[in-house]
Amino acid sequence: MNQIKPVRARNPIKPTLDTLTSSQIEAIRKIPPHDAAPTPELEAHRPVSIFTGEDRFQHEQQRIFLTMPVPITLSTLLEPGTAMAHDGYGVPLLLTRTKEGRLHVFLNACQHKGSKILDGCEVQKQNRLTCPYHAWTYALDGKLVAVARDETFRNFEKHTRNLAELPSREHAGLVWAILDRDADEDWTSLHAQIDEDFTAMGIPSAHVYGRKTFDLKANWKVVLEPFLEGYHVQRLHRNSIGQLFADVPNVTDVFGLSIRQISGKVNFTPDALNDEEENIHKTVTHAYQVFPNCVVVTSPYYISVMLLMPRGPGRTIVDYFMLTPEAPSSEKAEALYSKSYDLILDVFGGEDFWAAEMSQAGLETGALDTVVYSGLEETILTFYDLLESRL
Ligand code: FES
Ligand SMILES: [Fe+2]
Repeated sequence: MNQIKPVRARNPIKPTLDTLTSSQIEAIRKIPPHDAAPTPELEAHRPVSIFTGEDRFQHEQQRIFLTMPVPITLSTLLEPGTAMAHDGYGVPLLLTRTKEGRLHVFLNACQHKGSKILDGCEVQKQNRLTCPYHAWTYALDGKLVAVARDETFRNFEKHTRNLAELPSREHAGLVWAILDRDADEDWTSLHAQIDEDFTAMGIPSAHVYGRKTFDLKANWKVVLEPFLEGYHVQRLHRNSIGQLFADVPNVTDVFGLSIRQISGKVNFTPDALNDEEENIHKTVTHAYQVFPNCVVVTSPYYISVMLLMPRGPGRTIVDYFMLTPEAPSSEKAEALYSKSYDLILDVFGGEDFWAAEMSQAGLETGALDTVVYSGLEETILTFYDLLESRL
């Protein structure tokens, strides 16, 4: 009998340094001690019109959000034999996963008279999809399989009335689609390192503990900016989590169009990395900006994923997801997750998103022509350079 080699148990509840990718580990080892952190200076501005202008909004829609791959939701939400409607981008979508596990993204429009087939955005266990209007029924792969009173349609060929499908893929634990069916299909913006990192972090198989949608009165880039800088953390978050974080720049890596930021928390020292059993997210925070509009932030016991979906120059829908390695299996775990969920909604919702709406209101007054950035906000400029390269 072959001896089974004991595999070092991976406990994703306590992600240790060696559960991460070699690329993440290398970046973590580059974090300097806080007292040796650089204090970079920067002279950089952007016109306020990038946050308020209708022309700029339309240009971003055409060049990026309608024609490049965008994240729709988390792969893990859709188990085999489920379907979900999605309206975040203003294009009604219908997501399905067949019993065989194949994911599809359709336009949520019945081929009879266009009615949405599913409403709301809850995941539903379904074998088939039946339109509420005249009960045309589709298989989860989009095929029209049943038409009520079909003898009353003359010269009717069912196979010409399947659901309209969008190009889609799963990558890094997210479902991606190209919203304009006429756009050239180009998936090169999805970078393998992001997929590798997120897989190591357990995102594709995580449990969705909490999910909340925000409808914000702010440009999507105003909502995004605080996730690209640490400058505000000790200030805006002074009464919540501010004291846990150091006032120093992040270690930043760019993969294609996406950005990975790694930072040591206030208790970080390079020596802390020698303890192989320690939960790495207690001392180190990962914050990703996955192009164009996905933010992922680690915390010791959970991971936050946010999709920022622009709906107008001053309006953004944010889907927030709190991921845990598994469903809580004890009262203690449930208490921890529940407390964490309340805290993170207070911090992101009550502080970061609140500040974004406060900024947007001020930007729209015309009081300033440009915004100005410090050396502690340099990653925002990295992001704008990447964004502008595609506009
Ligand atoms: S619109 Fe769907 S069955 Fe008529
Ligand atoms: Fe923040």
